[in-house]
Amino acid sequence: VGKPERQVAVFGAGYIGLVTGACLAELGHRVVVRDIDPDKVALLRSGDVPIYEPGLGDMIVRNKERLTFTLDLEETLRGAEIAYVCVDTPPSASGDADLSRIWSVVKSLEGAAHLKAVVVKSTVPVGTGARVRSALDAAGLAHVGYAANPEFTAEGRAVADFMRPDRIVIGAADEAVAQLIADLHDGVDGPVVVMDVRSAEMVKLASNALLATKISFINEIATLCEKTGADVEEVARAVGLDHRLGPHFLRPGIGWGGSCFPKDSEALRQLASNTGYHLQLLSAVIEVNNLQKRRAIQKLKDELGTLAGMRVALLGLTFKPGTDDMREAPSTVLAGRLLAEGAEVSCWDPMARPGEVEPWVSTTRHATPEEAMAGADAVIVVTEWPQLKEVDWAKAAESMRRPVLFDGRNLLDPAGMRALGYTYMSVGRP
Ligand code: UGA
Repeated sequence: VGKPERQVAVFGAGYIGLVTGACLAELGHRVVVRDIDPDKVALLRSGDVPIYEPGLGDMIVRNKERLTFTLDLEETLRGAEIAYVCVDTPPSASGDADLSRIWSVVKSLEGAAHLKAVVVKSTVPVGTGARVRSALDAAGLAHVGYAANPEFTAEGRAVADFMRPDRIVIGAADEAVAQLIADLHDGVDGPVVVMDVRSAEMVKLASNALLATKISFINEIATLCEKTGADVEEVARAVGLDHRLGPHFLRPGIGWGGSCFPKDSEALRQLASNTGYHLQLLSAVIEVNNLQKRRAIQKLKDELGTLAGMRVALLGLTFKPGTDDMREAPSTVLAGRLLAEGAEVSCWDPMARPGEVEPWVSTTRHATPEEAMAGADAVIVVTEWPQLKEVDWAKAAESMRRPVLFDGRNLLDPAGMRALGYTYMSVGRP
């Protein structure tokens, strides 16, 4: 017998709010998603989805009886038992997470005395839950429970990650509240782990930091492989077979980006320094990630003598394949450096959304990788889009002014590319 169907208010129709709202509706709950952006709400109401996420659009359509979108606060809270806070927490100038959107949601809950629980899903500094708790108490909502329920969904597989997670982490001071949130996930295939609020907040930040650490670690080993003649792909494969280490997040490359790792690692570092402790390891992890892009530019510079006046093609712009997300994408850092060095940039990406991407993209974007490469002095594979496997690399080499190729994702075969005439460089491979 399934657990009771709940009425849920979701605040924020970004990646997390939409995935949470759609999946909770899929589980049988009644969900109202509120956002303050009229265009976004209008789009969602017309049956469109403002982001690319496999399975999400279908799920929203399939559950339209139970899932509504609104700008209206009263409509959102009417009958709501659980309020899910899914707003974004961008970095502020100081490096601390900017929690203003959280506070405006909490403020809007004043008077919602019928709520049973407020749940924060947004990624927040440890201690935020305690502050929300105090704010609820001060607003006359002392009887309303509080829980932290961080998300571990990766873009491009968020729906699957929600429905079949490695774990559901619930931080709550009150057992009944923890049970309420656990029951809400009835039908989700994954273990529930209950703990105190601060620990749950920390799990999220620690998980992302460790994932970023694995990547920076293998990237540093890759650099050493280049200097010693070892092949990092062989090394990573065999290291990953140790079950204590695992094969995941050991893909060397041009560095991690996206909406989470850069922001969350900075936020964790800032959180630590606010307590008076300097996180040694994480600082190095961030530094190695920055270095990875500088090294790519340096390699091209060494090869071409100068970047001034050179045309460099960037293949792939989004921070990883399978998403249209450009946030903190390595491509933007690379393009910025190239332009600053006086190079010209041409680019290709199958999904980065026109209009929302950096201004340089709109002037130099081409419909195919081959077009972006024609006449270029060098090309960088920035994002490992599967389409790049289909490129006629022989023909593309002929169309370039100089066939210099930096494969920032170790996507292509070194011997094969050299046989086609490329000056081929990759990450940590001889
Ligand atoms: C990440 C985490 O994987 C999720 O668990 C987490 O919930 C999410 O952040 C979040 O905090 O919301 P996401 O940013 O979507 O998810 O992307 P990932 O697939 O983790 O990739 C992050 C970056 O690392 C990408 O730039 C990717 O290219 C890079 N990466 C990943 C590597 O360079 N090597 C690897 O082996 C794996």
